[in-house]
Amino acid sequence: MMLLTILAVVAIIIILPLSIRYYMKGATCTSPVKLEGKTVIITGGNCGIGFETARNLLLRGARVILACRDLNKAKSAAEQLSELGSGVVLVEKLDLSSFDSIRTFCKNIKQHITSLDILINNAGVYFHPYAETEDGLEMHMGVNYFGPFLLTHLLLELLKKSDSPRVVFVGSVIYKCGKIDFDNMNKPEFFHQHGAYCDSKLACALFCREFSNRMSDTNINIYYVHPGIVNTNISRNILNSFPLIQKVSAFKSLFKNCQEGCQTVVYCSVSEETKDQSGCYYSECQRDEWANQALDKQLAIKLWNFSEKVTGLIE
Ligand SMILES: NC(=O)c1ccc[n+]([C@@H]2O[C@H](COP(=O)([O-])OP(=O)(O)OC[C@H]3O[C@@H](n4cnc5c(N)ncnc54)[C@H](OP(=O)(O)O)[C@@H]3O)[C@@H](O)[C@H]2O)c1
Repeated sequence: MMLLTILAVVAIIIILPLSIRYYMKGATCTSPVKLEGKTVIITGGNCGIGFETARNLLLRGARVILACRDLNKAKSAAEQLSELGSGVVLVEKLDLSSFDSIRTFCKNIKQHITSLDILINNAGVYFHPYAETEDGLEMHMGVNYFGPFLLTHLLLELLKKSDSPRVVFVGSVIYKCGKIDFDNMNKPEFFHQHGAYCDSKLACALFCREFSNRMSDTNINIYYVHPGIVNTNISRNILNSFPLIQKVSAFKSLFKNCQEGCQTVVYCSVSEETKDQSGCYYSECQRDEWANQALDKQLAIKLWNFSEKVTGLIE
């Protein structure tokens, strides 16, 4: 009996984490597509999912521009990526918490490239304490949604010059918990660190669907990706807020590593299977159904019009 108990405990200690790790690993993008002659912009490409996406696309021969808020981090990431000896890696300053920075980035980039094949809206913040962007927007909504909204619009001209342009949003399944409250978006008294993140990811989902409708007469396709639960720096604010969690942060090694976490992003960036699809939701390298929250067309239109005003695209 004693022996059986010991065996059961050992099995739980060894087999359970291994099973969780195996389950978490997720799907792999097996597409052999090469990207020689193609230009890619990855926001927040200096670390995490963005960095591994950059590595994967460089190995396919792409020219990859790391659009990052910290140029020192971007340069050191670019140095590491250059060692791959494949593709071309460039860096350019982009702070998504500043509309000025986004406009300057787009102006500068147009001096270096004449067309853009893949835009990956990857950069994001999570569980940020209440703070406002340079333009007075709540930080999650500003960096995760309004910034990419403006960026994508300002890069449209370059995207339209590509043969088969793609825009990939690194979103999250958590968009299902989001809500769009136009009246209280910027009010600290209604703010919740997790809730604001969910709201920003729902806004991105609504944007993807509306963008796809509005671009139906162009060849631009847009994809919304849930990467899975990935062991990255995104949890830094939650770890700072709950020091106790730091003590058991070893459980993070059960999550996907960044190489595993970038697979669906890469899949949507290159796969032939997704070539003629747009406005869809992807997880584990396959298309999945949108939840009702993302299917509200009137809300998507209202948010689009609201965002055009907030970002200064229209008066
Ligand atoms: N990890 C997950 O489990 C998970 C799950 C679902 C969705 N996601 C999404 O995946 C995306 C990538 O996150 P990650 O997990 O790879 O986290 P990460 O390692 O923290 O990467 C986030 C990137 O965004 C950049 N960033 C933050 N604020 C910015 C700003 N104002 N302007 C420009 N760049 C900014 C960061 O730059 P710095 O290095 O300078 O801070 C970093 O490069 C995010 O959109 C996140 O919401 C992640």
